[in-house]
Amino acid sequence: MLSEASKRLVDDHLALDELLGQLKSALHAGDVEASHAGLDLFWARLAVHIRAEHLQLFPAVTDRLTQTASARTLAPTLSEARSIIKNLRADHDFFMHELAKAIGILRTLWHEAGMTIDKGTNLVGNAITEIEKRLIVHNELEEQKIYAWVASIFTAQEQTELTNRINIELAYRPPRFSLEAWMTQP
Ligand SMILES: [Fe+2]
Ligand SMILES: [Fe+2]
Repeated sequence: MLSEASKRLVDDHLALDELLGQLKSALHAGDVEASHAGLDLFWARLAVHIRAEHLQLFPAVTDRLTQTASARTLAPTLSEARSIIKNLRADHDFFMHELAKAIGILRTLWHEAGMTIDKGTNLVGNAITEIEKRLIVHNELEEQKIYAWVASIFTAQEQTELTNRINIELAYRPPRFSLEAWMTQP
């Protein structure tokens, strides 16, 4: 059974998948304005999701495993957790770097006539395909390891507190997005 905190993050993975699907449709249609809006929203939502993992989930897991080394047979070792989190962080860096490049291309397309729309949207589409492939593996690893551990390494009270902290992080909506746009659900 997944903890509430983990379920919240799994739901966010699904919402991000939905946004990625909308972005791909806009790119496929060669709609630069809708692609830019879709990419802007996907990037912002993914950044907020990543921030919740970096600031709340990952440190909570490593702190707990540091305190209770070898005390729980179901729990992973601290070194296993650290090594997985290191890989997950490298994925996060890749996503942010590639999304920054993609938004740069779309801005060029939007403001200047130096690139054909087909070429620009294809370039961005290829970047999005690479991000999507890596995101699938990334989310699976998170869900099967880190998210799955939450229920076994924290007390019920700690899980509730973690859920609250994650909910607060995920509610940090940049003001340029309406609540309706931000709350896309799968
Ligand atoms: Fe992640
Ligand atoms: Fe995640």
